[in-house]
Amino acid sequence: FNVPAPKNEPIFSYAPGTPERQKLKDAIAELRGKVLDIPLYIGNREVRTDKKLTLTPPHDHQHILGYTYECGPEHVTEAIQAALEARTAWAALPWEQRLAIFLKAAELSATKYRYLLNASTMLGQSKNAFQAEIDAACEWVDFLRFNVSFATEIYREQPISPDPLIWNQVEYRPLEGFVFALTPFNFTAISGNLPASAAMMGNVVVWKPAPTQMYSAYVLMQILKEAGVPDGVINLIQGDGPMIGNLVFSHPEFAGIHFTGSTAVFKSIWKTIGSNMDEYRYYPRIVGETGGKDFMLAHESADAKAYAANLLRAAFEFQGQKCSAASRAYVPTSIWETVWAEMKGMLETFKVGGTEDFSNFVNAVIDERAFTKITGYIDRAKQNPANTILWGGTYDKSKGWFVDPTIILTSDPHSETMEQEIFGPVLTIYLYEPAQFEETLSLIDRTSPYALTGAVFAQNRYAVELASKKLINSAGNFYINDKCTGAVVGQQPFGGARGSGTNDKAGSMQNLLRWVSARTIKESF
Ligand code: SER
Repeated sequence: FNVPAPKNEPIFSYAPGTPERQKLKDAIAELRGKVLDIPLYIGNREVRTDKKLTLTPPHDHQHILGYTYECGPEHVTEAIQAALEARTAWAALPWEQRLAIFLKAAELSATKYRYLLNASTMLGQSKNAFQAEIDAACEWVDFLRFNVSFATEIYREQPISPDPLIWNQVEYRPLEGFVFALTPFNFTAISGNLPASAAMMGNVVVWKPAPTQMYSAYVLMQILKEAGVPDGVINLIQGDGPMIGNLVFSHPEFAGIHFTGSTAVFKSIWKTIGSNMDEYRYYPRIVGETGGKDFMLAHESADAKAYAANLLRAAFEFQGQKCSAASRAYVPTSIWETVWAEMKGMLETFKVGGTEDFSNFVNAVIDERAFTKITGYIDRAKQNPANTILWGGTYDKSKGWFVDPTIILTSDPHSETMEQEIFGPVLTIYLYEPAQFEETLSLIDRTSPYALTGAVFAQNRYAVELASKKLINSAGNFYINDKCTGAVVGQQPFGGARGSGTNDKAGSMQNLLRWVSARTIKESF
């Protein structure tokens, strides 16, 4: 049994005149012309409740894309029950049979559903065509295909049996109980991967996406069902977080959480799990990816233009709403003039607007709460005498939740926007004297509780080596002469430590191993 060798899904450019561009435009137009009714999926049932949630495009908040539903406590209990009922048959299915379902899901996503996945991500989460393509199409497909391949390696790996009278084996069993997947709005791929990777290893899942991602989560669910994921194996629910959490985390069959989201929520979940330990039949697996305050550092030997271009992309693609986004930059005074001239030239070409116009580079932030939080940071930054607003600082919520790309130059390396995660299009830059490179490395390491991504730009190999050593624990994904976003599945396993998560790299064998429990068998003849 050899699974097809995984390759990264090729990225469509959607350049003017290409047939793909027209197909994507058609899919967007079709979705805009409809009002979707998005049910919850519990076992073999589609569930609708009397509590409706309205879904709108972040860049056009008066337009209704559709409705979904908030569940009550009884639905959470039913979803857990449905998962547990599906468990025996699912866990007993040979792994080859299970994995084939996810390869089928990858194929459906790359072909039949590609435009719908992208269009729903563009409308529901306000991603531009390129950002949607690398996420909802490519990264999601890559997660499925690479994880299937990693899973086969796990299942095949066997200990040695040097004595002909002894046979040693290791069997990778699914966890007992159910897994809870709590997933974020910012990547359709991550949202799908968290339930899918646990299910792939034979687990049953209760999945609660962010409400603002329900529009594309619905498409993911359709794909998984069509590919053959049996009823009850992945149950999709939506509703009040604390209410759902209380029921899930107090259930004796709770076996683990696969989480991506905020640090505060993850910490509070961990505490709840700790305080409920006596209720559980198992030690639950806790796997989470949380915040970041990601840095991009230039050395005086850096290619200033390459640094500037990469910094802008890392800070402002998808409005900075990536846990990997660059939000603090450290630039030597010696190259600042060149860096800023380059940045300014590019910033002048950035267009802000809705995703339906493919020439817009910056779209809206996800919702009113994000808008209020981000603009609060901007307003406070304006009051701080250490800061100069170099670019942007403006926002407009009349049609959508638009925040213009904002660049703050600060003389205080510990100012609020240098230290706190903003999760929006706000970049703060600190200039240092070139002779202070080593001190700046220490400063970078100490400034934030997070350690997700970071980058150094330098042509001088001693500087690269020094940065790499001094920043060894400052980032789980460290980039040399590249931007700190855009990890590719199968190429750069993704995740951070410290306050950024448990670092169980997404899209890796290590992550899949968290969703199995090994049984060692020794047979004597
Ligand atoms: N994997 C994404 C990136 O690297 C973030 O989740 O940008």
